[in-house]
Amino acid sequence: MSERLLKRFDRTDRARNEQHVTPKAHFSMKDHALGLTMLPMLQKPSHHRESGLGVRIEGVRRQFENGVVALDGIDLNVASGEFLAILGPSGCGKSTLLRLIAGLDKPQGGNVFTMEASHGRADRHGLGTRADIAYVFQDAHLLPWRNVLANVALPLELMGIERKVREESALRAIEQVGLGDAADRYPNQLSGGMRMRASLARALVTEPRLLLMDEPFAALDEITRQRLDDQLRALWAALNMTVIFVTHSTIEAAFLAQRAIVLSSRPARIVEDYTLNLPAERTGSIRSSPAFARETRVLYQALERNEV
Ligand SMILES: Nc1ncnc2c1ncn2[C@@H]1O[C@H](COP(=O)(O)OP(=O)(O)OP(=O)(O)O)[C@@H](O)[C@H]1O
Ligand SMILES: [Mg+2]
Repeated sequence: MSERLLKRFDRTDRARNEQHVTPKAHFSMKDHALGLTMLPMLQKPSHHRESGLGVRIEGVRRQFENGVVALDGIDLNVASGEFLAILGPSGCGKSTLLRLIAGLDKPQGGNVFTMEASHGRADRHGLGTRADIAYVFQDAHLLPWRNVLANVALPLELMGIERKVREESALRAIEQVGLGDAADRYPNQLSGGMRMRASLARALVTEPRLLLMDEPFAALDEITRQRLDDQLRALWAALNMTVIFVTHSTIEAAFLAQRAIVLSSRPARIVEDYTLNLPAERTGSIRSSPAFARETRVLYQALERNEV
């Protein structure tokens, strides 16, 4: 999706929906870029569900133009259908790593591959498999002049999917995240938790085989965050996708993930690669169990050892 095309789309979309823009609505180019960042990754959604995409990262290095080395010598395999949490001190390179996996950024050294589970074939980014990746940011980045249904349907609209099909898919995704009653509401009529649900639905609407999430629930209150974690875990179990989830919370990582990696401070290296020893069936009540306390402690201690 070229920038020119996006701009044209933005103009026509705004014109069509002008009556819905509230006086306070403000939409900067930055919002625009972030809100629609997933678009270059989107192509036709698969109508039959395939398995999650695996990821293989080999010796990745990312140094920025100002000399900052965010990542160096990162090797990581993420299996098809796995739920991986990434923990690490602030500024260590977690978002950088996620952006590389998404193909939004390029490493200076090493390789990032997405893997077809069925036959183990590796596809380098740019050769096709990126179509099945979706990315969820910390902020919801909804378009203020579109209601929930139209926001969630947007990725399919930009793929040229006909209205009836895209609205049916969007409604399904909205139901999946528990927003069924709010499909016709506008972003300024939603709570922070509801906005994040809408953002998650917009990612799920394309049935991604790899869902990348960068601290998506960090700004929410604890109860709302736990509810969304419960829902995300259930969706992951039901939807046959790989999830890579960046968080600062050891509790969130232990609840959600099968496996967690802990990164060192910059330049980030993987200093802990831990398979969580918790049952596959997880409901909210597991958080008060001794086993859960033990697992979060393991992650916390690994973080603490490497925090500078
Ligand atoms: N485009 C850029 N140019 C220069 N430095 C950058 C750029 N993007 C990120 N950095 C630096 O790279 C390092 C890693 O950034 P990154 O955003 O990946 O950290 P993070 O682990 O996600 O942090 P946080 O937990 O605070 O979100 C930081 O020191 C950051 O300042
Ligand atoms: Mg970050």
